[in-house]
Amino acid sequence: MLENTLGTNYHHFFEKSFITEWALLKSYKNFYKNLATLLSVLPTTQLVLKKDAIHITTSAHTENISLPLATRRSNLNAKKFHASEHPTTITFPAYLTGLLKALIPWRKGPYNILGHLIESEWRSSLKWERIKPVILPYCNNKCIIDVGANNGYFMYRLAESGAKWVLGLEPTARYVAQYDLLRTCLITSSNHDLLANHYLSPLGYEALDYFEARIDIILLLGILYHHPNPLAILRQVHRSLKKGGSVIIDCQGISDEQNIALFPSRTYTKKRGFWFLPTRNTLIAWLSRTGFQNIDIFYENTLTAEEQRRSVWAPFPSLSEGLSPQNSPAVLQTSEKYPPPIRYYLTAHK
Ligand SMILES: C[S@@+](CC[C@H](N)C(=O)[O-])C[C@H]1O[C@@H](n2cnc3c(N)ncnc32)[C@H](O)[C@@H]1O
Repeated sequence: MLENTLGTNYHHFFEKSFITEWALLKSYKNFYKNLATLLSVLPTTQLVLKKDAIHITTSAHTENISLPLATRRSNLNAKKFHASEHPTTITFPAYLTGLLKALIPWRKGPYNILGHLIESEWRSSLKWERIKPVILPYCNNKCIIDVGANNGYFMYRLAESGAKWVLGLEPTARYVAQYDLLRTCLITSSNHDLLANHYLSPLGYEALDYFEARIDIILLLGILYHHPNPLAILRQVHRSLKKGGSVIIDCQGISDEQNIALFPSRTYTKKRGFWFLPTRNTLIAWLSRTGFQNIDIFYENTLTAEEQRRSVWAPFPSLSEGLSPQNSPAVLQTSEKYPPPIRYYLTAHK
């Protein structure tokens, strides 16, 4: 399916993905072994897209299913979380708990996976509600790439979109493993065909090079401020879009009238990995100077701890720990005394 639409470069593309996936499999060997064990007893499931969370459900009584406890200890081994369990067998729900915990942190979600509610650090459901009106009506028969897809949250959200295919690019091994766990739980799903043309590759945005003028819609959510050269990414996105194709961007920035971008000296909200945080005008200028047209900022608001917060599935400092403790709501600033984070959402066309 993908092969027919990608053109001459696809051989190279698949070759590279395969090599990277193989490397991932090696370091995550025990995790994937445990996943195979889970698969061997998996009941029939179903993907259900609800507003609050993505659900994977089953009508089977999974407590009645038992399976062998994995034998080798490792960071990604379910056994570690079940020291008090019976030494040779374990129930399906407990086994699944072990696998889910082995992949902490869950940054994107929430998911309800066969009764396990994964309250992720981010409430990605809020982001989906904002972008849904600008993407869902336009997906039918379209080729879509989600850059930095993480565990595939928005790819799953696009399951009923009618897209021709959806490709996620995600180079972080742990998130690829999370995607594989979700995908494995859906192998037996009664609506599995919804995901038939969905594929996650462990490549980065650099792989956009393989798609010159071939893509209808690109999602660039939470990406630009995490990379030292946002303009290079925008140029690559522009090149890979068909004429008239669109990009949907969500970018963290700051509020200011001027055409400037904040460049933190080290951390921002106590986190590393932040490079340029643009103002609204700067973001628009980035887009127009890389060739985009019809640039429309359709949402802008302060990022709050309602959307990004610490949880048991992401038990690390989150947004509230990165904002200055003396702040009153009226004068928000980060712990580094920088302006507080604003989220800008926009669409633009080639
Ligand atoms: C802030 S998260 C955003 C995830 C998701 N798009 C969202 O909006 O919720 C950034 C994601 O980009 C991924 N990433 C890191 N380097 C990348 C690269 N070179 N190309 C594509 N994605 C990358 C990270 O692993 C992470 O999953």
